[in-house]
Amino acid sequence: MLFDFEELAARDRYKLMVSTIVPRPIAWVVTQDDTGRTNAAPFSFFNAFSNDPPIVVIGLDHRLGGGEKDTASNIRLNGQFVINLVAADNLDAMNVTAIEFPHAVDELHQAGLTTIPSTKIKPPRIAESPVAFECERFTTMQISNNRVLVLGRVLAMHIRDEAVLDAAKCYVDTPMLDLVGRMHGGGGYLHTRGAFDLPRILEKDWVLRD
Ligand SMILES: Cc1cc2nc3c(=O)[nH]c(=O)nc-3n(C[C@H](O)[C@H](O)[C@H](O)COP(=O)(O)O)c2cc1C
Repeated sequence: MLFDFEELAARDRYKLMVSTIVPRPIAWVVTQDDTGRTNAAPFSFFNAFSNDPPIVVIGLDHRLGGGEKDTASNIRLNGQFVINLVAADNLDAMNVTAIEFPHAVDELHQAGLTTIPSTKIKPPRIAESPVAFECERFTTMQISNNRVLVLGRVLAMHIRDEAVLDAAKCYVDTPMLDLVGRMHGGGGYLHTRGAFDLPRILEKDWVLRD
């Protein structure tokens, strides 16, 4: 079946893309406004795109009622944010922080979460999350009236101690992190348990087909 994206409504393109581009990691983003008020929200238009420089990208649209999301306006104001990753244990709290509260409401407090100060930026990280990236804005791309892509440069990363197998070699026990990903539909998620290995094929081992 062919779907012509030049003909489809934006909502339908969204449905097709998020139903198939799965699983998506979830950036659980903590920002602060000018007064130091903390904000948190999850974003699954998210991934890593480069390690040199270390660049992650988040896609933010407008609030359902219109207007910039707090995460977008805070990053526009000061360019600093922490991307926490979401473990299975964090799902309920993450879901609370996705509620479109008024600006004055601190989602971290509503979700019963605690924070730890960051080392290089002002917004704190979420203590209950096993992985956090301290980021500063690399650049922002306004791709439409109501959607912005934030490219963030990672300045520092925190990993829960027990999941670090060998710090010198940067070996991580990824299954122990028990991270979750976003699937299709309004509330679809996926565990990262059940991972398997697929060794890479070297060119010298490949017999070319005629
Ligand atoms: C798992 C999940 C993924 C989400 N991904 C996105 C996303 O990629 N982009 C976006 O704009 N909103 C996304 N949302 C919705 C925002 O989290 C929601 O609008 C939030 O209230 C924004 O908060 P803020 O105004 O405090 O920034 C997602 C929600 C959930 C639950």
